[in-house]
Amino acid sequence: MKRSVIDILDLTTAEIDGLLSTAEDIMDHPAKYAEKCRGKKLATLFFEPSTRTRLSFEAAMYELGGNVLGFSEPNSSSASKGESMADTARVLSCYADIMAIRHPMAGAPYVAAQNASVPVINAGDGGHCHPTQTLADLLTIKRKRGSLENLTIGFCGDLKYGRTVHSLIAALARYPGTNFVLISPEELALPSYVKREILEGQGIAYRQATSLEVVLPELDILYMTRIQRERFENPEEYERLKDSYILTAEKLNRAREDLIVMHPLPRVNEISVSVDADPRACYFLQVLCGKYMRMALILKLLESTAADVAPFADSVVFDKLRCKNPSCISSKEQELRHAFYPVSEENGIYRCVYCEEKVKL
Ligand code: CP
Repeated sequence: MKRSVIDILDLTTAEIDGLLSTAEDIMDHPAKYAEKCRGKKLATLFFEPSTRTRLSFEAAMYELGGNVLGFSEPNSSSASKGESMADTARVLSCYADIMAIRHPMAGAPYVAAQNASVPVINAGDGGHCHPTQTLADLLTIKRKRGSLENLTIGFCGDLKYGRTVHSLIAALARYPGTNFVLISPEELALPSYVKREILEGQGIAYRQATSLEVVLPELDILYMTRIQRERFENPEEYERLKDSYILTAEKLNRAREDLIVMHPLPRVNEISVSVDADPRACYFLQVLCGKYMRMALILKLLESTAADVAPFADSVVFDKLRCKNPSCISSKEQELRHAFYPVSEENGIYRCVYCEEKVKL
């Protein structure tokens, strides 16, 4: 197994800081990097729609002098005939030097990484993680605020299904002085595994709110998110919640002059276009930063000689225990090993290695 990035926590803080430096150097000296991946191929396996992530990966590889192959929707691949993620990863390892995978099921890129002989990058798996969006977000924050420390960041909208939120919280929790404000309807609150294990587990300051207007004046960063229609099991619930938060130019009058407004995009209506002309709007800078951070990550993984940790390290397998998350890859691909990390063995609580949802014995 080659070094892969499935979760943002697969990278140490020092490695993230190194990627930020490389990305900024690429921005300043693009010609220095124009031949770095000559003769290398990136495969983009997108089982779910994307504009920014897929095309920025492709632009990144081309700007490094490499080539790209892949598909942008599952019906054009043999996954539509029932080919497993593991076999797909083995096949693509014969054609490409590195691969980026987006999939609607949580844990699919993890399965790919266990079976590929080339590095795998998670380009977004269900409502679980989106580590390369986090790299884009961190570079944006660094360029606008100068530092990743001592910031109060408000996450607003769909914190349940918003995978970019989960990954960015995990990353920023490692920098000193971060305060999190979690703004969502109760139904779309942050998953308990993120809240308990990342925030409460590390004693990190956070509070929950339902009103954006009330907390807006205290924020250094406002991270807006789309209500993720495609992840709702009940369409009526989506209709009820879809307009929970809409940021307008008028509402921004309550915010600090040095606030930065972020959004991973695409937006639907949660940020009015009237906000775009405000100098605090940074969401198109995030798009640009995404390309440079993906260039830095491709370079790092192709140059890495380190192997990933062994598959299922520290996990346990039970004959009868099953992950109950219908959006977990283990619920779709029945032949996968059902492996779990212990959370509280005395209470019989474990965490699925694929989607991280908790299960009880
Ligand atoms: N931010 C993001 O992941 O955008 P796409 O879905 O367009 O890739």
